[in-house]
Amino acid sequence: MASLFEPYALKGVTLRNRIAVSPMCQYMAQEGVITDWHGAHYAGLARGGASLVTVEATAVSPEGRITPGDAGIWTDAQADAWRPVVSAIKQAGAVPGIQIAHAGRKASANRPWEGDDHIPDGDPRGWQTIAPSAVAFGGDLPKVPLAMTADDIARVRADFVAAARRADAVGFEWLVLHFAHGYLGQSFFSPHSNQRTDEYGGSAENRGRFLLETLAAVRAVWPDNKPLTARFGVIEFDGRDEEMLAESIGLVKRFKQEGLDFIDVSIGFSTPHAAIPWGAHFMAPIAERVRRETGLPGSTSWFISQPDQANTLIADGTLELVMLGRPLLDNPHWPYAAALKLGVDRPAWTLPAPYAHWLERYRAA
Ligand SMILES: Cc1cc2nc3c(=O)[nH]c(=O)nc-3n(C[C@H](O)[C@H](O)[C@H](O)COP(=O)(O)O)c2cc1C
Repeated sequence: MASLFEPYALKGVTLRNRIAVSPMCQYMAQEGVITDWHGAHYAGLARGGASLVTVEATAVSPEGRITPGDAGIWTDAQADAWRPVVSAIKQAGAVPGIQIAHAGRKASANRPWEGDDHIPDGDPRGWQTIAPSAVAFGGDLPKVPLAMTADDIARVRADFVAAARRADAVGFEWLVLHFAHGYLGQSFFSPHSNQRTDEYGGSAENRGRFLLETLAAVRAVWPDNKPLTARFGVIEFDGRDEEMLAESIGLVKRFKQEGLDFIDVSIGFSTPHAAIPWGAHFMAPIAERVRRETGLPGSTSWFISQPDQANTLIADGTLELVMLGRPLLDNPHWPYAAALKLGVDRPAWTLPAPYAHWLERYRAA
């Protein structure tokens, strides 16, 4: 059997293969409560054969949403709305994961297909953003955030803890802390957004403090037998790449000491002025280096779209999991298509029984 279809066990969780759904905001929630859209969307992804279905960046507080349509988990009612989705993912044989997030200075934006820019000041749909320093991202996101006080930092950390507790209570089995993509965690780490002069700014150690403290506080409440993971932007492609990679790897080592189980390696997106070398699985060598130097298992995404590429990245030990985003929007049955392409014995058995039973006969006919 091809490596992409070997199971993967971490803590108390076993994934049926190495194909995971990368978290993808749907921007279809109302007041943070998910809707019927989410049920159909995530059930479809689980049914398609992915092993881990990581649901979208789910905000730990109202001001932590990217857009007014983001999912939230700052109330019990929001958390309870995920229960049928968790159940459907499990029934289809996949493991339900959730990414918990705070968008920081990138919050209060229009949905991607409605502009992807900041909601203008004075528009009642928008809200005051917060960040480590009063520095705007720039470009289409010009809002100047309020610099967080020590109380704000403590409150957001507590919001992450409450979100983790709720995620556990409704049955999620894999937790992803969103420390990437220029959102709040990443923006503490990045000198582009963090110009603080207290113990949360300046040196790499200080810039990593908010992330580390948040991780430690969440670890204290997230069950030990469920993987605690983080998505972290280890590189910006802003010309400071080697220095940032070294700092990032240093911080991920500290994450490991605090109990992180797995690292999903991504990009910083802390500045509109990055020169990102887009291309087929271009983040894989960087993820491999982070894995090797930290000793943590890991994954990455970004343009891993071909089954043979994905299989090679697993078979040669570059990654433990491939995280797929757009390829799974394109075809939720990508895992089945990949099994067919790779010549896996009984490819239909990547799918749940109600499909597998018929498709195996259908293909043999
Ligand atoms: C519609 C959409 C929504 C996304 N939302 C999130 C998100 O909620 N959290 C996150 O970490 N990344 C998010 N991303 C990034 C994806 O997880 C993924 O890393 C990215 O699409 C690259 O992988 P791909 O080339 O397989 O699509 C999103 C991407 C898309 C296309």
